[in-house]
Amino acid sequence: MQDPHPHPAVRLDRVSKQYAGAPAATHASPDTSAHAYAVRDISLDIAPGEFFSLLGPSGCGKTTLLRMIGGFADPTEGSVLLGGEDVTGLPPNKRNVNTVFQSYALFDHLSLADNVAFGLKRKGIPRAEIRQRVADMLDLVQLGGIADRKPPTLSGGQRQRVALARALVNRPQVLLLDEPLAALDLKLRRRMQVELKQIQREVGITFLFVTHDQDEALTMSDRLAVMNEGRIEQCGTPEDVYERPSSSFTASFLGTSNLVPGIYRSGEVVLDQGPALPVGTRTGVADGSRVSLSIRPEKIWLSDFEAGMAQVTGVVRETVYSGPTTTYLIELAPGITVHVLEQNTFRSRMEDRWSGGEQVEIGWKPEHCLVLD
Ligand SMILES: Nc1ncnc2c1ncn2[C@@H]1O[C@H](COP(=O)(O)OP(=O)(O)O)[C@@H](O)[C@H]1O
Ligand SMILES: [Mg+2]
Repeated sequence: MQDPHPHPAVRLDRVSKQYAGAPAATHASPDTSAHAYAVRDISLDIAPGEFFSLLGPSGCGKTTLLRMIGGFADPTEGSVLLGGEDVTGLPPNKRNVNTVFQSYALFDHLSLADNVAFGLKRKGIPRAEIRQRVADMLDLVQLGGIADRKPPTLSGGQRQRVALARALVNRPQVLLLDEPLAALDLKLRRRMQVELKQIQREVGITFLFVTHDQDEALTMSDRLAVMNEGRIEQCGTPEDVYERPSSSFTASFLGTSNLVPGIYRSGEVVLDQGPALPVGTRTGVADGSRVSLSIRPEKIWLSDFEAGMAQVTGVVRETVYSGPTTTYLIELAPGITVHVLEQNTFRSRMEDRWSGGEQVEIGWKPEHCLVLD
């Protein structure tokens, strides 16, 4: 049978962007001018219908990459393909993509319905069809009841939904979203995350979503790319990048990760100041290499250890109660502390929890720790 989607929705083929006038653009050796690139040598395929996120700290190149896909900036090298067609160099209106920005840029003097209809009217689509598509789209974003209102009377979350409806009504092949929820308060943002994901499933359009918020990327994405200094550090499902980070950058950018320094020696990591801990055999790590042992706070046990676990003692330096969980800051050696996160299921009373100065034993299963360069 023929594959109905022979082409990725978006393909980036060795895309780089150097801004003219950036400090090292005139540098003699391209190898030493990494900092002059906003985006450097990115190749990536995004499948049709995928919810894909670009996650990374401010300044890592997310917006630049999105602008090159939307046609608002040209790559210095490489090409951009949409649905198999090379669109490098084409203007935004010649690409079947729409962008939703953090600032909604709505027309304040037009009703919500007219805001959503704006693009369709310019395309000369028949009035009856416009009316139907606008009504359907406003229903989808749950604004059907207030289609006649004007943007200044709306809340931030409602405006964001108008912006979304206005982009989706064009039925783009790909929707680009640049930190669309960043201006919303936390509670509303959480609700919009769920809604946005539902809407995406319903319309089946490929979403390329930019965020610097790791929780947002983990909860919403089918896959995500973690970016750092213009490059992709790691690309995979939320579980891939959270459970199996390939670098200490990814490990520490996504959630809290404990990185404990030591030396790898045949199945063990000898901590700089402390015991040797079993980590299982690691392919690709040479004996005697300097490594970081990476272990997530929620993977560390405080009692009921099982055979084969890595165990080490430390001193509780801080206890932070936050409702469902308690976080302990435990010092293993001078200057080496780890976070341990425990559900308040068993030790639910204050007097059952450890407090500062107490010596405790912690442990984890060797398969739950990673050995990173
Ligand atoms: N128009 C521009 N001219 C020069 N440098 C730019 C321009 N736009 C972005 N940059 C630089 O490119 C890098 C990536 O920026 P950007 O793509 O906006 O990152 P992000 O969206 O991840 O915060 C930054 O160092 C930024 O200063
Ligand atoms: Mg940005």
